[in-house]
Amino acid sequence: MNQLVDVRSDTVTQPTDEMREAMARAVVGDDGFGADPTVQALEARYAALVGKPAAIFVPSGVMANQIAMRLHTSPGDTVAAGHASHVVAFEMGASAKNAGIQFATFRDDDGYLPRDAVLDRIDAEVDHQAGVRAIVVENTNMYAGGRVYPLDELRALRSATSVPMHMDGARLFNAQVASGVSSATYAAEVDTVMTCLSKGLCAPVGSLLAGSVEDMERGRVERKRLGGSMRQAGFLAAAGLVALDTMIERLADDHRRARRIADAVEHRFSDTGYRATDCETNIVAFNHPSSRHFVEQLEERGILAGTVAPGRFRLVVHAGISDSDVERVVGAIGELV
Ligand SMILES: Cc1ncc(COP(=O)(O)O)c(C=O)c1O
Repeated sequence: MNQLVDVRSDTVTQPTDEMREAMARAVVGDDGFGADPTVQALEARYAALVGKPAAIFVPSGVMANQIAMRLHTSPGDTVAAGHASHVVAFEMGASAKNAGIQFATFRDDDGYLPRDAVLDRIDAEVDHQAGVRAIVVENTNMYAGGRVYPLDELRALRSATSVPMHMDGARLFNAQVASGVSSATYAAEVDTVMTCLSKGLCAPVGSLLAGSVEDMERGRVERKRLGGSMRQAGFLAAAGLVALDTMIERLADDHRRARRIADAVEHRFSDTGYRATDCETNIVAFNHPSSRHFVEQLEERGILAGTVAPGRFRLVVHAGISDSDVERVVGAIGELV
């Protein structure tokens, strides 16, 4: 029996041997007292990578986004974001509950917000519409199929408004590797940025949120309020340091493999309008009415895939997927009916 090929998400990745060793020998302290040197090293390392003065280590990407919402808004405010962005569609309404905000959503099928529409919505405050107090950009954009936020679009949006911007950069390093634009260059265009260590970078747990010193001091308070202040978290941070040191460049392998799958999807489903060039990083996502049936058919062949909406099929490549796994997926896609 062949082993399962799990392309449901890059969150299924396993920590590397080097991470496990680093965790075992990590020097730890009580981070609630600001006394865990490994957590501090990780926060400093991420802050330097994204070019921000400070960062905080948090248990999850959702919590990083939630802290950002609480930093930038007050209850009753409006936040502009993509219609199927993580913070809008995949956090169980957390922003309404934790920050008391409502979203103005915009279609971002090509991976970036329609700038003029966002600016019009901001301008509508003059017309008595609720004020937009933050903008969330997602880079890469998961629902759009791992699309990279174009730097010129990001810069144009940033320079057109003074509304604070948060980047959900759960997969920011995928964007960096695919585009050659550094994560710091992207992050320079936003006030706060978060990145997950537990996806393509293969760390077991954790995300980082970066921004100004003042925002991160307030962020520590919000993290505590949300129950995300951890104690000897250096065990987790040790794996995170290995992730940042050793796992970024290899994301290019995931992108190459995802493109191979995207070619097969384009070949098999050209009528859907899907183009392999839509696959810029590690995610292949396309619309098809039989998506849930495809998931069942692949499972019968030992391949775990998923859907992110009715009629939207998704496959995600990560460090646990080899070239021969990709060929199994390619073969199975050719057999889908
Ligand atoms: C774009 C994006 N943002 C945020 C998250 C949340 O990360 P976590 O699962 O660590 O809470 C995810 C998780 O899949 C994601 O894809």
